[in-house]
Amino acid sequence: MFAVFGNPVAHSWSPQIHQAFAHQQGRNLVYERRLIPIDNFAREVNKFFQNGGIGANVTVPFKTEAFLLANELSTRARAAQAVNTLMWRDNCLYADNTDGIGLVRAIKEIINLSLRDKRILLLGAGGAARGVIQPLLEQQPAQFTLANRTATKAEQLAAEFGIESLPVNEITPVYDVIINATSGSLHGQSIQIAPSVLGNAELVYDMMYAKEPTAFLLQAQQASCQKIADGLAMLVAQAAESYFLWHGFQPDIASVLSLIRQQMEAQ
Ligand code: ATR
Repeated sequence: MFAVFGNPVAHSWSPQIHQAFAHQQGRNLVYERRLIPIDNFAREVNKFFQNGGIGANVTVPFKTEAFLLANELSTRARAAQAVNTLMWRDNCLYADNTDGIGLVRAIKEIINLSLRDKRILLLGAGGAARGVIQPLLEQQPAQFTLANRTATKAEQLAAEFGIESLPVNEITPVYDVIINATSGSLHGQSIQIAPSVLGNAELVYDMMYAKEPTAFLLQAQQASCQKIADGLAMLVAQAAESYFLWHGFQPDIASVLSLIRQQMEAQ
């Protein structure tokens, strides 16, 4: 038995994605959405695993709580200080974070862009940004800069990872890849950033996704950047890494991405 824990969770595409992966393997899967009361996460997780649960995904707002609850953490979960994947193994609660590797795989395998030697600008300094820094650095970019609306938050986070940070108004148009890890798109908000910076980029990626292009991607399009992409590929790829952890099978992500995009557009 598998599930995604969140609040809200009704919008989650994880059940459809995991069912599509299971279909590739020719197996049946029970994967449910679990709406968890805000102050009941630990109790619900324990109950789930006591009742035979094997694996769970964790989404907003429980990723930090899942990190604190785990008995054993993967290296990337420790760097992210947040967890999106739980598994009961060897009598303990093992936790991983597949968001960052999901982002990297989305860019490498779906957009076919290598991040090696690229100049990367990451926007945001919250949990979503923190979760992807280490996996992006592992791709050996030529430059990696963090920028955030509140500059002090970017400075603090950058110091933790030993990377550069810049105030938004000091960003120059030198970046090949710009990634939006702010929650601006969740609220339909664009980001304060010079059009020349977006226009110079080879790829502008928004970690958020929606049926229509996000406000940030429209901004990038208007600035004439070469390519824009939303976070749906990241969602499918992070799910694939969870699936691999639980089932030892690496599913094909491109076909599932097309399927989920179709389902989303039909809604
Ligand atoms: P998450 O866990 O999704 O990262 P968070 O920790 O609340 O959520 O962080 C949200 C991030 O989005 C912050 O970096 C925030 O910037 P501030 O630190 O200045 O608040 C950023 N953010 C949200 N809305 C934004 C907007 N309209 N423009 C720029 N940055 C925005």
